[in-house]
Amino acid sequence: MKKIEIFENERATGYDQFVEKWIPNYHYFMDHLPNLLIETNPKELLVVGCGTGNEILRFARSPVDWKITGIDPSPDMIVHAREKLKDYNNVELIEGLITDLSADKKYNAATLLLVLHFIENERLSELLQEAGFEKPLRFFQSSIYMGWITQKREC
Ligand SMILES: C[S@@+](CC[C@H](N)C(=O)[O-])C[C@H]1O[C@@H](n2cnc3c(N)ncnc32)[C@H](O)[C@@H]1O
Repeated sequence: MKKIEIFENERATGYDQFVEKWIPNYHYFMDHLPNLLIETNPKELLVVGCGTGNEILRFARSPVDWKITGIDPSPDMIVHAREKLKDYNNVELIEGLITDLSADKKYNAATLLLVLHFIENERLSELLQEAGFEKPLRFFQSSIYMGWITQKREC
């Protein structure tokens, strides 16, 4: 069962150009992220699958004082993130998976952007059910958007 998609070499080097071209309004959406989480307090954020650090950059440079941890399993993506974010001391970057983080460490907000579509439907279905949702009726996947339809189980 595939759970990790490693981005390496040109796929990592060319990621920023690729994503700008193929994800409509990518930067517009990224720019609005800090506003979406404005009420989080304290402002401790976990960015899962942080890639080259694009969403982290928006939080790191926002006038509000965020403390951000980014984690990603692709070493080449983390290298680019480190370079992009080297001037921000409110950012910690980790190469790995969320299972590598201490279960005792708590965050007040988390993002997982453009990552879920790499996890196979069968595994996503299991995760949703473990989280208390019905088995998804249908998955929607295209090269740009993905999603699913389900509902919270009756107690
Ligand atoms: C399309 S990029 C998205 C990067 C960034 N979140 C963004 O929005 O630009 C997908 C990232 O997910 C990471 N990834 C792949 N499988 C993962 C997993 N199982 N858990 C966490 N991250 C994963 C990849 O290494 C890659 O950097």
